[in-house]
Amino acid sequence: MRPSHVLPGHRLRRYGPAGTMLRVCVRPLGRLGTFKVCFQGYVGPRHYSSSSFSGSDDSRDARAYFTTPIFYVNAAPHIGHLYSALLADALCRHRRLRVPSATATRLSTGTDEHGLKIQQAAATAGLAPIELCDRVSSQFQQLFQEAGVSSTDFIRTTEARHRLAVQHFWEVLKARGLLYKGLYEGWYCASDECFLPEAKVTRQPGPSGESCPVSLESGHPVSWTKEENYIFRLSQFQEPLRQWLRGNPQTITPEPFYHAVLQWLEEELPDLSVSRRSSHLHWGIPVPGDDSQTIYVWLDALVNYLTVIGYPNDEFKSWWPATSHIIGKDILKFHAIYWPALLLGAGLSPPHRICVHSHWTVCGQKMSKSLGNVVDPRTCLEHYTVDGFRYFLLRQGVPNWDCDYYDEKVVKLLDSELADALGGLLNRCTANRINPSGTYPAFCTTCFPSEPGLMGPSVRARAEDYALVRAVATLPKQVADHFDNFQIYKALEAVSSCVRQTNGFVQRHAPWKLNWENPADAPWLGTVLHVALECLRVFGTLLQPVTPNLADKLLSRLGVSATERSLGKLRFLPRFYGHPCPFEGRRLGPETGLLFPRLDQSRGWLVKAHRT
Ligand code: ME8
Ligand code: MG
Repeated sequence: MRPSHVLPGHRLRRYGPAGTMLRVCVRPLGRLGTFKVCFQGYVGPRHYSSSSFSGSDDSRDARAYFTTPIFYVNAAPHIGHLYSALLADALCRHRRLRVPSATATRLSTGTDEHGLKIQQAAATAGLAPIELCDRVSSQFQQLFQEAGVSSTDFIRTTEARHRLAVQHFWEVLKARGLLYKGLYEGWYCASDECFLPEAKVTRQPGPSGESCPVSLESGHPVSWTKEENYIFRLSQFQEPLRQWLRGNPQTITPEPFYHAVLQWLEEELPDLSVSRRSSHLHWGIPVPGDDSQTIYVWLDALVNYLTVIGYPNDEFKSWWPATSHIIGKDILKFHAIYWPALLLGAGLSPPHRICVHSHWTVCGQKMSKSLGNVVDPRTCLEHYTVDGFRYFLLRQGVPNWDCDYYDEKVVKLLDSELADALGGLLNRCTANRINPSGTYPAFCTTCFPSEPGLMGPSVRARAEDYALVRAVATLPKQVADHFDNFQIYKALEAVSSCVRQTNGFVQRHAPWKLNWENPADAPWLGTVLHVALECLRVFGTLLQPVTPNLADKLLSRLGVSATERSLGKLRFLPRFYGHPCPFEGRRLGPETGLLFPRLDQSRGWLVKAHRT
């Protein structure tokens, strides 16, 4: 620790080798009393080995807690909100495939219901704030339920348990000398619920031509605020935050966002106003012991992550800090600077992981109510099916940069990858004319010996076939690595590429030209189908986190039972590796319908939607 990093009036000490166990104590020497800032028990990079995610290993009882942002209830949900929830859901479902214990994984989402933004939206709608909250919160709940978001918790910040947690958290900060009363003066943006320095404010012509101050980043109006508030000593955490992040470079992912946060920490980090006059903001949680002030909505909102797991009761410690926050890039500063600083201030560890994604635009434009281009996710789920739309968002959404939405893109992707490639493959291998016995055919080791390059009259497998086996055998690990790195679209790309390769395999050997009645053909015909079905079983298993219903249909058709669908049970092509295969000879499932019907035949609604 270089002396220049020590804040005036403080001694800063670090124990333990960097990057392993880090324990930092900030001890004020002044009149504020003693407080400690610690990353106790925080073990760094070792948590992020390829076989583990979210700061926990995959052992049976290791816990992992995933969160989405809690969404403002000023307007109905759109596809961006659904996208965040689906990313978190897919991560969570993938972890459940690895660690099936029901109590090992938790996924929380909810609604952010306090603050000036909601107070103003309710006034505009002519509703009491709680009426607006009830209405919109239930829209979020309904959407997430319809979309198959397998959350274990839904929190509303207007709940009594949350008020208790926030007030407790406040008292802890206060007791640690981290809150003081001071005059705050500056720009406030109600839409973004944040303070802005002069440099982040610009002027724009308003409705009647007058010049209006707006946020440079979001374009939302800002207003000048001057009042006495409670202020959090955020500036004291600049160095501890740097320490934390430098020692744990994988905490914020993808990498560009990590660097952005480090860059912010190079700039001045002023103290943060954390309350409003209640005469101005009444819709919120009162400051304990001072009813004239309401707690700042971001402090209120961030504490939701603790409320959900039972804070302030000790039970929360079994989930914290094994936490992965999934958030949009718009709220990175709140999660990567304010929140860890508040946690450190309260004597708690920062979260293990912050997974950041970019935004959806619509036909090249930012989605906004005023532009009238907001895409309604419920309509999409209805038109493209739940699994179709989940697949689209997760396959096309790239966390590192913004993605553009338009209907034709969805139709094209789903028709080619789900209907034609995957559905076609299943159909090709299970249709009655090719597989009249309706069973999982046997694999013949003479036709497809495990040793490549063997010659002989009965050896039918070629070099490309061995390449296919290798690709599908390594797919589960590849997919797991991509999930670990919060690159779900890459996992789906890898699956899709293997699906194409499997179709190539079937095409190459044209089983429809082989004859079950011919003893020279039959073992090889069975082998071709067996290999293709084994590949499909891998795809079905790996797609469960993204398209749970479609994967269920696929696996049921293959005759894979509910207890055979975890990653631990997935042993691809065991016969090839000299082991028995439990599926050989088993009856296929009875469901013979299309796995995913093509959309472009049913596109009448699309044309209609565009005309209106
Ligand atoms: O910020 N594309 O709530 P919010 C992708 N209540 N994702 C988008 C998006 C888009 N165009 N627009 C929004 C808040 N999102 C606070 C959060 S958390 C303690 C409090 C997603 O309703 C994205 O995850 O404005 C973004 O971070 C979140 O919705 C913001 O939702
Ligand atoms: Mg927002």
